[in-house]
Amino acid sequence: MTKIELTVDGSKVSDDVEPRMLLVQFLREKLGKTGTLIGCDTSNCGACTVHLDGHAVKSCNMLAVQADGSEVTTIEGLADTYDGGELHPMQAAFHECHALQCGFCTPGMIMRSVDLLGENPDPSEQEIREGLEGNLCRCTGYHNIVRAVQTAAAAGKGAQA
Ligand code: FES
Ligand code: FES
Repeated sequence: MTKIELTVDGSKVSDDVEPRMLLVQFLREKLGKTGTLIGCDTSNCGACTVHLDGHAVKSCNMLAVQADGSEVTTIEGLADTYDGGELHPMQAAFHECHALQCGFCTPGMIMRSVDLLGENPDPSEQEIREGLEGNLCRCTGYHNIVRAVQTAAAAGKGAQA
């Protein structure tokens, strides 16, 4: 077992983990953060996306021990990173634009989309589609997801004005 210490959704966590444990397993099985989902076993779907030190990563694609000393934000802590309401603006935009059907991809989509706007606050439609290419949705056809990201980007611009 290896001892790790990290911050998850604003709380300090310290635990002993097997070196082979994936970060997504640690979040779900040890911390009960079941909002972070597992949708594949090939690192393709992006349902497991969280933020590691502020950037989107696929938590099925790294070991829990690799997150030692880091700050992890899951979909369950995202709203707390935004000082302005119950929902993060990206969550509100997904809601407003009906950017989900079954919702399985949604946590990962939202976490990736927040990082995408962090990298590029005013992306073109093409840049949004390319930015989300590591996240798969089996339901929506992506159209409303792209609209949601555009809506959040516009809201961000409004907030800066
Ligand atoms: S569960 Fe991580 S990419 Fe699919
Ligand atoms: S809403 Fe069902 S997979 Fe995206």
